[in-house]
Amino acid sequence: MSETTKRVRVHHLWAKKQRGERISMLTAYDAVTARIFDEAGVDMLLVGDSIGNTMHGHATTLPVTLEDMIPPARAVAGAAQRAFVVVDLPFGTYEAGPQQALESAVRIMKTTGADAVKLEGGRRSAAQIRAITDAGVPVVAHLGYTPQSENLLGGPRVQGRGDEAAERISEDAIAVADAGAVAVVLEMVPAPVAARVTEIVSIPTIGIGAGAECDGQVLVWVDMAGMGDWSPRFAKRFGEVGAALKAAATAYVEEVRAGTFPDAAHSFEK
Ligand code: KIV
Repeated sequence: MSETTKRVRVHHLWAKKQRGERISMLTAYDAVTARIFDEAGVDMLLVGDSIGNTMHGHATTLPVTLEDMIPPARAVAGAAQRAFVVVDLPFGTYEAGPQQALESAVRIMKTTGADAVKLEGGRRSAAQIRAITDAGVPVVAHLGYTPQSENLLGGPRVQGRGDEAAERISEDAIAVADAGAVAVVLEMVPAPVAARVTEIVSIPTIGIGAGAECDGQVLVWVDMAGMGDWSPRFAKRFGEVGAALKAAATAYVEEVRAGTFPDAAHSFEK
């Protein structure tokens, strides 16, 4: 498929894994950034519940609701011409069982125009993944460090260290693939463990802090672009957009204060 025209579908993601072509994914929470990332050739856009931390000012993703996800998901899906748009099911919207998960997924799909939903958990979420998939909705799974369980996991910590823990992640990956997941995010997992999972499952693995052997990579865009003073160790800062934005805003404030903006070029004489 052309990198610029056709919409990315599930079978394109699977074909990329088969061909050994890496998949790129970024979070997006609004139409402005979604359009920029789509035009840059990002394959998958994730309307992540990280919106809780990055945009809503919460300390965790836990307060995010299904209602919070709908306007940003609609904006991102509306702006993306090519990228495959995935929307997170937030904490409390799928854990109760397959029926709750299906209702949440259907609500997202009916109201936003997204391509898929994502939820956290391995074997514990397999029945939910099966129910949503059986209804015809693609599901992306999420293993390793799962932020919705941060209180149980003791905060953002590498998961899958040691043979037993690594085996649990492999078994979870097999379980979500068997349940019908179309891809699986691996977060904060040792690179060799992620490489092994990538080898044993037929669906694409998308890593975040999981080494270079995954089939794809995902980053939270504000970390990737260097919007804040700090980004996690695994999140390379590909730009210093926060500093550039601050410089632009500072220049604007100075010109407004000095009365040099607007000048004739930015005013209407008639
Ligand atoms: O919500 C999110 O941004 C995520 C990524 C960390 C994968 O789930």
